[in-house]
Amino acid sequence: MFQAHQSRGSEQPRTDGSDGWGRESQPRGPKPAAQNGLAPRFAARYAVLMHQRPRDVIAVRPATAADMTDVARLQLAAWHAAYRRLLADDFLDGLTIEGIAGYHARHFDSAQNPNLDRSAFLVAEMTVPPAEGKKRPTKTIVGMVRGGPTREKSAAGDPVPPEVPKKYVMELFAIHVEPAAQRKGVGRQLFGAFVEAAKKKMPDAGLVLWVLKDNGNARGFYRKLGGSVVGEGELTLGGKKYPQVAYGWPKYPNIMQT
Ligand SMILES: CC(C)(COP(=O)(O)OP(=O)(O)OC[C@H]1O[C@@H](n2cnc3c(N)ncnc32)[C@H](O)[C@@H]1OP(=O)(O)O)[C@@H](O)C(=O)NCCC(=O)NCCS
Repeated sequence: MFQAHQSRGSEQPRTDGSDGWGRESQPRGPKPAAQNGLAPRFAARYAVLMHQRPRDVIAVRPATAADMTDVARLQLAAWHAAYRRLLADDFLDGLTIEGIAGYHARHFDSAQNPNLDRSAFLVAEMTVPPAEGKKRPTKTIVGMVRGGPTREKSAAGDPVPPEVPKKYVMELFAIHVEPAAQRKGVGRQLFGAFVEAAKKKMPDAGLVLWVLKDNGNARGFYRKLGGSVVGEGELTLGGKKYPQVAYGWPKYPNIMQT
């Protein structure tokens, strides 16, 4: 288990302008749920996320097959928030929690994932201390990261420049953080834990990932973590092709120092 954000030892409201995560809470705080286009049934979960207190702890742990519905729910929310203007509406609107959960569930089946031993699937789980009058803390999955040996084709079968899988042994397939939990260090924590897992599974260094060319936010995140563009290609989604770029790290980065 990887754990970065520890208790800061106080539940008093902060007066120093930070959000208790060591980061400024303004102006980069989470958007109100309504702005994220959330269904009302998710409002309660987002209310928890948006009022997280300094003692709330995020821990990264290996995912299990039982996590896939929660993972799919957060991924769908992240896609709707990040990709609305990047991907066709009919493709985005056709995505379902069941479909995404089923896609990720294949990771755990060695018949469908022959690289299971060399793959990693981690989730970031937030533990919120019990509310007044309640005994149990609440646990919510707020992020996911998944990867394995570098693919020679995209998940949709699009060709990849042959030098990419030759040079980079490990590929990060997907990383998503629930919209209300973004820009609080969860993505960095997940990425760092993935790198540590990758070092054990594939010690020959070299990490790569693909991102939509127009996904400026994710590209800013990868640049911040020391990645640079090492290839270009296309990704087919819902029958449409979208340009994408590869970010590479010739050596596994030390994410806590980037
Ligand atoms: C991309 C994503 C995973 C990043 O996770 P996150 O939790 O928001 O990122 P963090 O808060 O951990 O940011 C880590 C660092 O990257 C920087 N960063 C994050 N987003 C950035 C952006 N848009 N531009 C520039 N820097 C950025 C942060 O400032 C932070 O730097 P610091 O630690 O020095 O302060 C998340 O925003 C997300 O899920 N986006 C939607 C889905 C998506 O696009 N996934 C990627 C698909 S390829």
